[in-house]
Amino acid sequence: MIEKGAKIAPPSGKLGVLMPGLGAVATTFIAGAFSARKNLTEPIGSLSQMGTIRIGKRTEKKIPLIKEFVELAGLSDLVFGGWDIFEDNAYEAALKAGVLQREHLEPLREELNAVRPMPAVFDRRYVKNLDGPNVKKATSKWDLAQMVMDDIRRFKEENHCQGLVMIWCGSTEIYMGEGDVHQSIEALEEGLRRNDERIPSSMIYAYAAVKMGIPYANGAPNLSGDIPAMVDLAKENRTPIAGKDFKTGQTLMKTILAPGLKARLLGVEGWFSTNILGNRDGEVLDDPESFKTKETSKLSVLEQILQPDLYPNLYGRLYHKVRINYYPPRGDNKEGWDNIDIFGWMGYPMQIKIDFLCRDSILAAPIVLDLALFMDLAKRSGMYGIQEWLSFFFKSPQHARGLYPEHDLFIQKTKLKNTLRYLKGEEQITHLGLDYYYD
Ligand SMILES: NC(=O)c1ccc[n+]([C@@H]2O[C@H](COP(=O)([O-])OP(=O)(O)OC[C@H]3O[C@@H](n4cnc5c(N)ncnc54)[C@H](O)[C@@H]3O)[C@@H](O)[C@H]2O)c1
Repeated sequence: MIEKGAKIAPPSGKLGVLMPGLGAVATTFIAGAFSARKNLTEPIGSLSQMGTIRIGKRTEKKIPLIKEFVELAGLSDLVFGGWDIFEDNAYEAALKAGVLQREHLEPLREELNAVRPMPAVFDRRYVKNLDGPNVKKATSKWDLAQMVMDDIRRFKEENHCQGLVMIWCGSTEIYMGEGDVHQSIEALEEGLRRNDERIPSSMIYAYAAVKMGIPYANGAPNLSGDIPAMVDLAKENRTPIAGKDFKTGQTLMKTILAPGLKARLLGVEGWFSTNILGNRDGEVLDDPESFKTKETSKLSVLEQILQPDLYPNLYGRLYHKVRINYYPPRGDNKEGWDNIDIFGWMGYPMQIKIDFLCRDSILAAPIVLDLALFMDLAKRSGMYGIQEWLSFFFKSPQHARGLYPEHDLFIQKTKLKNTLRYLKGEEQITHLGLDYYYD
């Protein structure tokens, strides 16, 4: 148990942010961080940079910025690195991803050119619709993990980093359930040595990071770090881990809207969600096996928020369907439609329609920044294992066995801020507020 107000080691020197996958999300994040550093744009959407936190009673009016309240690494202290199966540097990859316009990338060209991907751990078996030349070769997965660790050591030395975090920004792998090989550190290490096929590429990166005591957050729905072996390793090495799947776009909307409908005890009979998107992520998700991983992540949200077992008359018959359609003309500018069939007083039906013309990577980029800074904070605070307080950022929050995950965005936000208050030895805010009215 972390003590309330326990000493937090201050951030010092450079913090290396290592990302397997330098695609749309990663390059949009890196470009935005460089742009904010040059005061060209604001870090919009980032809780760590723009968010505030109330301390004490409302009458005290003490509401500092989060980044002034807790000891976070500064934007200017970040250095970026990563791996990809393509050789493009971050400038070229950002241009190809087509999220940011050339005119916004040009002033950042020099910095972005310097971020070059290291050769990836990759196997097409796990991402069927992708292939590229920048890939490591080794006879065993164990050796591949050692090569990733060597990359990390080299990166740390060359960039004079004091701290490191790893955030998975790579593609969604095929759906995979838990097996024996995932149950203990010994089984996982043995599996790496004999090339067990239930160890996908993302798990090799996660193993390398956690083995070295580097915080690991998973931005995709891949099983990756969400296995008992990785949780045990994270505890053993005093390393924070978190996941899975950045909460953006349609699922973000769901976790904003569904808690509101439930709060007012409005029934939901059906929720149909469909998307068109044309980026590389969309292409990968066009493979049914990768889509299944994403679908599982997206479907779990409503069930957990609406709790049909507790409210069978309101949510017991809910029909929930999610579709993703690869449609190249849209690029990263996804369009997501939701049709929600709800019912109210005396069972009268109503409908809600959402048409969200969203930019996926624009919503994901600030999450990468916040996760990098909060995971580093967690490490410096002595926190380790699953960081459930960072559920705010994920579609399928990783959680302890025997618990159900918390999906409601507003509960997640309260949890996150209360954790920061706790770390700093401040009182929790319960929103009771009776003391304003009675002595
Ligand atoms: N954009 C969003 O809003 C969002 C939201 C939630 C989750 N995600 C997930 O984040 C991930 C990144 O999304 P994106 O839009 O940047 O996709 P992208 O296809 O543009 O980028 C992913 C990159 O990862 C690389 N890659 C794949 N396997 C790799 C490996 N084993 N090692 C190193 N690199 C590898 C690919 O070559 C590609 O460049 C995806 O898994 C996506 O599902 C994205």
